[in-house]
Amino acid sequence: MLEKRPLGSSDLSLTVLGIGTWAIGGSGWAYGWGAQNDSDSIQAIHSALDLGINWIDTAPVYGLGHAEEIVGKALQGRPDVIVATKCGLNWDSQKSVFGCLRPKNLRKELEASLKRLKRDCIDLYQIHWPDPAGEIEDAWSTLSKFVEEGKVRAIGVSNFSVKQMTRIASIAPITSLQPPYNILRPEIERDILPHCQEHHIGVVAYSPMQCGLLTGTWTHKRIHQLPDTDWRKTKNPSFQEPELGANLQLVESLKGIAEEENLTPAQLAIAWVLRNKVLTSTIVGMRSKEQAENILSLKSWELNMNAFQAIETGIAQRIQTLKLSKAQKPQ
Ligand SMILES: NC(=O)c1ccc[n+]([C@@H]2O[C@H](COP(=O)([O-])OP(=O)(O)OC[C@H]3O[C@@H](n4cnc5c(N)ncnc54)[C@H](OP(=O)(O)O)[C@@H]3O)[C@@H](O)[C@H]2O)c1
Repeated sequence: MLEKRPLGSSDLSLTVLGIGTWAIGGSGWAYGWGAQNDSDSIQAIHSALDLGINWIDTAPVYGLGHAEEIVGKALQGRPDVIVATKCGLNWDSQKSVFGCLRPKNLRKELEASLKRLKRDCIDLYQIHWPDPAGEIEDAWSTLSKFVEEGKVRAIGVSNFSVKQMTRIASIAPITSLQPPYNILRPEIERDILPHCQEHHIGVVAYSPMQCGLLTGTWTHKRIHQLPDTDWRKTKNPSFQEPELGANLQLVESLKGIAEEENLTPAQLAIAWVLRNKVLTSTIVGMRSKEQAENILSLKSWELNMNAFQAIETGIAQRIQTLKLSKAQKPQ
């Protein structure tokens, strides 16, 4: 059974894995993940829930409303699943995405999300990005009103710095932060995680497999063959040179470590994230039943010290490779 941890000071208790829904928003917008079949998405959600996950993370911007609609459909008859969504990223008639945190707009967004999700109340409502940064205080007071009105159970932020969390903390308590965290992106260990631990802010970390790159299924050729509608090919630096070569080299070493531990590379990447006990949970993107089953076939997420040390060696080698390739670049 998957372990559950309390989310900050709220009464929500989350399994250490949550279901991520960015990719199931599909294509048709600037940050799509190429074509996605809706029935595959619904099957992925159902099998992840049946295998023990108790919460799902989504956002209006994923597929410009589409991911929330799929979540609403998939959760029909499953009222106990904890639903987290976000606000603050809007889109215009040209499908261009922009940040807006004005109170009137947030209220409109909340109503639209409740409708798409087919719920009367959202369990965790999060500000997606501190954008525009000058509006975060007003936005946070607005979210706290949603709690008083009973439309939202708990409120959190995503992609906020320590400074930004400090700015809003006196207005209303912050239940959770949603930051990026994985083998390639450990930056939050420096100041963000200590701050969250000290202030009892729950942490639901995203992209544990760096958008799939750490699953061991990628090669230069496969990335080259991705459609232009997959943002990873066109906009994600981890999938592009100068980082890509060093990243794939690291993934090769992760494959060996995973085999020794009798894990899949995807499971190893997630176990590395979960070894950090400051985290409440990590959000895992799954596009099919097979991906959900592959990840959730693991019974214990404890990572042994040898594996951890071998990963650290791989990380150090990657940094060295990147430094060398930078030094060799003609000036
Ligand atoms: N707050 C924010 O700003 C923010 C930002 C990013 C993400 N998030 C949230 O966090 C969630 C997770 O992050 P993420 O989706 O970016 O990245 P991720 O969880 O690191 O990777 C997910 C991708 O890995 C691939 N995959 C999944 N299981 C696999 C398996 N067993 N074997 C091989 N490949 C597998 C799938 O893509 P392919 O099959 O196409 O490779 C899947 O879409 C998102 O869905 C979203 O809910 C939030």
